[in-house]
Amino acid sequence: MTVAVAAVLTLVGAAPATADRPTVAQTTADGHGDDFTVVGHRGASGYRPEHTLASYELAARMGADYIEPDLVTTKDGVLVARHEPEISGTTDVARHPEFASLKTTKSLDGVATTGWFTEDFTLAQLKTLRAVERIPAVRQHNTMYDGRYEIPTFQEVIDLSKRLSRELHREIGIYPETKHPTYFRKQGKALEPKLVSMLDKNGLNRRGAKVFVQSFEVSNLKALDPQLNVPLVQLTSATGAPFDFVDTGDPRTYADITSAAGLREVATYADGLGPDKNQIIPRDAAGFLLSPTSLVRDAHRAGLTVHPYTFRAENSFLPADFRSSAIPAEYGDLFAEIATFRATGIDGLFTDNTDVAIAQRDDRLVRR
Ligand code: G3P
Ligand code: CA
Repeated sequence: MTVAVAAVLTLVGAAPATADRPTVAQTTADGHGDDFTVVGHRGASGYRPEHTLASYELAARMGADYIEPDLVTTKDGVLVARHEPEISGTTDVARHPEFASLKTTKSLDGVATTGWFTEDFTLAQLKTLRAVERIPAVRQHNTMYDGRYEIPTFQEVIDLSKRLSRELHREIGIYPETKHPTYFRKQGKALEPKLVSMLDKNGLNRRGAKVFVQSFEVSNLKALDPQLNVPLVQLTSATGAPFDFVDTGDPRTYADITSAAGLREVATYADGLGPDKNQIIPRDAAGFLLSPTSLVRDAHRAGLTVHPYTFRAENSFLPADFRSSAIPAEYGDLFAEIATFRATGIDGLFTDNTDVAIAQRDDRLVRR
């Protein structure tokens, strides 16, 4: 254990970072009731190809409070769950000769990207594709499920959450993210009107609904603020700037947004912050954790809840402190990583391994 990790863990026994502030239920306008929120990131993507109904269902059954669909749109304006519009990495589209002519190169947030894009497919066409594992070299087990699942619509994700809420006798929340909002708006396919109407239609655009809406861009969250009655979450990266800022010549970066003053500005339109976990505890050049930043404290002072991303069990993603070996696909000590980050006072997290996060949350030995 590094000195930095020991220092963070010492905080748990000495003076919990959360001792002087309200719980999530008290701090969020909508009173979500869990003390520590576990979000199934792209479902249970440590165990199934991401953004499939099978992945979301497994996360819910493992205990996730929320399942997280990233949202993009089809040619005919249907919101579907994919991490990005370009789908060659997560579907079998390249093996469909009937769609070969749709392969193209586009500028995606300023980056030339070649492949197949959801907005060029009707929903009926997309439904003929099947999901595949994004990182087969790290998650070989998941490849057993390649070719078995469709791309789900947002409506199907909502329907799943409602069905499982009834079956499991607890409410399974949804935590949708608008992906590349400026990119889609510029093509005349804005995501936000569809998102609002879908939440309206499903009775989810109301105070107390178990829903968070998140975005890496700022302007679309500001525009959504008066239209939605559910909490909004500003996502941030450890580097760079929101694309809507880049696109409009706004010089501010994510570093500016996560300054104490920047967080107070975020709190004027959002309720939570979804930072890269490295913004909470940075790593040194060798991958070991350094001391925590003031981000969690500053966000709480601004009245924002904090749900960092993404907690994953494989060595490939863990800080060096918690790796089990030099083999990227082997599991390291995700329990210890989560415990270390919880000691900073975070209110919840996004994880590919919901079962581990729930076990950590429920394990009194780990929590003491
Ligand atoms: O939305 C939280 C987290 O999912 C952000 O990262 O790239 O996995 O959508 P990403
Ligand atoms: Ca996401």
